[in-house]
Amino acid sequence: MSQKYLYIETYGCQMNFNDSEVVAAVLEQHGYAYTEEIKQASLILLNTCSIREHAENRVFQRLNVIKKMRKQNPELLIGVIGCMAERLRDQLFDNDVLADIVAGPDSYRNLPELVRIASQSKHAIDVHLSESETYNDITPYRVGNNRISAFVSIMRGCNNFCTYCIVPYTRGRERSREIESIINEVRDLDAHGYKEITLLGQNVNSYAYTADGILYDFPKLLELVATTVPHMRIRFTTSHPKDMSDDVLHVIAQNNNIGKWIHLPVQSGSTTVLQRMNRKYTREWYLNRVEAIKRIVPEASITTDILCGFSGETDEEHSETLDVMRQVEYDMAYMFKYSERPGTTASKTLPDNISEEVKIARLNEIIALQNSLSKKRNHADVGKIFEVLVEGRSKKTDDEYKGRNSQNKTIVFPRANTKVGDFVKVRVVSASSATLKGEVVE
Ligand code: 5AD
Ligand code: SF4
Repeated sequence: MSQKYLYIETYGCQMNFNDSEVVAAVLEQHGYAYTEEIKQASLILLNTCSIREHAENRVFQRLNVIKKMRKQNPELLIGVIGCMAERLRDQLFDNDVLADIVAGPDSYRNLPELVRIASQSKHAIDVHLSESETYNDITPYRVGNNRISAFVSIMRGCNNFCTYCIVPYTRGRERSREIESIINEVRDLDAHGYKEITLLGQNVNSYAYTADGILYDFPKLLELVATTVPHMRIRFTTSHPKDMSDDVLHVIAQNNNIGKWIHLPVQSGSTTVLQRMNRKYTREWYLNRVEAIKRIVPEASITTDILCGFSGETDEEHSETLDVMRQVEYDMAYMFKYSERPGTTASKTLPDNISEEVKIARLNEIIALQNSLSKKRNHADVGKIFEVLVEGRSKKTDDEYKGRNSQNKTIVFPRANTKVGDFVKVRVVSASSATLKGEVVE
């Protein structure tokens, strides 16, 4: 039998990128070689995102292009996996989409069987959500990676039910991965020469796993990882403000190898909007957590997600968001306008009643403010010396390398005598709102 090739395209969040590596590992064990050449593929999987309507539309457009490849290759199988598979299910077999395989985020172990069914010209679907699946024992196949920096999934799913969010429906209930398998994966990455690990989950700081009668919460896990691989840099994302305890911050402050970077999605700066979003914290709580970060880990960078134009958002509520942004002075932010997702609590009980025009105007205001804040924060780094993990060539030229500092900011610098994977000291010489430029100092 000739070699079969798997090609995966990944959309959405980092969790999805990590899941694609699990999928590649599962299928590799069943005879599929991973390829980055779509033309070579016998199986094309799109690992999809449902978080905003726009994300789904992009996938539909892409499927339209990909399905034409069947003309040259009648054996080709096309699968939609991930959040859209979970949300849309057998609608993805419709004539205008034409998927062969549909697999939700907890069904990836079953992919070899789904592929077998699909290759007998049948539709194959598994969108069963599990309360326990964490792909514990599967070592991800590290895709297209620089072999310097890796993501390790520590928990899956979400129990928070923010009213705007589709994730609890597409990824199911929150579950924490067994601590021993996390530590084993971390050790394995160390042994393979990786230099940086990012612990990954929808709400990493609600991690909780009991082993031998001991409860490992997130601060304990973080500390254990940091001390297990003291020469690696450890990061984590994403944290929920409700669980951002002083304990976590002390662990970050006390361990040199934990990145001084906290991604803390605020979504809105208005307590009334936060209530409608079911975020479970107030503006004051959030600002108190930021104050704790600045006190306990003063050198930390703080980044966020902001969602504007949510149901009923008034001008006043919107200005409260701008106000929080000014108070926190975020280093960077991901900024979105609200996109109603069918099936969420908001879609059932809170009208999507802010006009597109107003949403766009508010988003633009938020983006403009964030640009000026990023610029200010980055300018404050000029003259400082940071330890940078060299990741590879800069986009522009071979003579320059790029890497990130502990604060997760990218710094571009002339290569000097450095090589990929080195930790080097770099002094920042100039800054824009997007990048820092520097020079190696030793
Ligand atoms: N519309 C727009 N943005 C959303 N997000 C989550 N749900 C929606 C939605 N329905 C944003 C939030 C979240 C980030 C991953 O995506 O800001 O933190
Ligand atoms: Fe998109 Fe959320 Fe699913 Fe990630 S978990 S792919 S962000 S819908």
